[in-house]
Amino acid sequence: MDDNEVLIKSKKRVQQHGEVFTPKAIVDAMVTLPGLDEVITQPATTVLEPAAGEGAFLVNILERRLSILAEQFSDDLVRFENFSLLAISSLYGIELLNDNLKKCVINLFVTFHDFYKDFAAKFDQQPKSNVEESAKMLIITNIVQGDFLKRTTVSDSPIVFSEWAPIRLTKTTKHINVIRTEYTLQEIFQKVKREPGSVYTPIPKTEQLGLFEQQAVLPIVPIFKYLPTPITEVYKETREEIIE
Ligand SMILES: C[S@@+](CC[C@H](N)C(=O)[O-])C[C@H]1O[C@@H](n2cnc3c(N)ncnc32)[C@H](O)[C@@H]1O
Repeated sequence: MDDNEVLIKSKKRVQQHGEVFTPKAIVDAMVTLPGLDEVITQPATTVLEPAAGEGAFLVNILERRLSILAEQFSDDLVRFENFSLLAISSLYGIELLNDNLKKCVINLFVTFHDFYKDFAAKFDQQPKSNVEESAKMLIITNIVQGDFLKRTTVSDSPIVFSEWAPIRLTKTTKHINVIRTEYTLQEIFQKVKREPGSVYTPIPKTEQLGLFEQQAVLPIVPIFKYLPTPITEVYKETREEIIE
């Protein structure tokens, strides 16, 4: 074990939240288990870390995915950019504590940024801002603060995840287009299938009316739909209002 690794922050946090981080050597050994390794390093394989901490497992998987993509696309920066964004888009995490969540998001982004910067330098290029903005957006959206067991966020609303489904992805695809669809964690457990592009819309709470009170006018909640978009432009969150 690395002497500088901090696995426990305080006794109180261990008692209250079971917070003991996994040493890097153990993470390495776990993610490289035969059978798991080949699947987990595929950029489109969905991985959810339900108690993400500072992202020990997610960061490790992302590092390994980026290394493989750098070898695979050693002569093609655009394909590396597209497939590394796909590799990020399929990594998800839930973490209860805000400081760990922030650290997890930063660790994932820094992992991508450092790797991308070095790879782009081989082509005498700087990281492109749309690619970095898209990476940031995917990470911030996919790593959620909440309680995995209750399936709710810290403000007690449902945990919502976005699926970023690639459209007609083939071995020769250079520019990946995705369609974003939002699902609550509860819906994912129930295997609900939504229309591609669906945006999660919370159901407005109705209050119990007194005998002589008038029926409250419910606010009209606009229903939006995400549009298919290049993965390098997902940060724009392009969507349209559905007029019914
Ligand atoms: C044992 S640590 C493991 C962290 C990370 N997976 C690792 O291996 O380093 C457990 C983490 O889960 C978080 N946690 C505890 N209860 C949780 C819950 N109900 N939902 C989501 N996260 C939770 C804690 O804050 C802590 O960061």
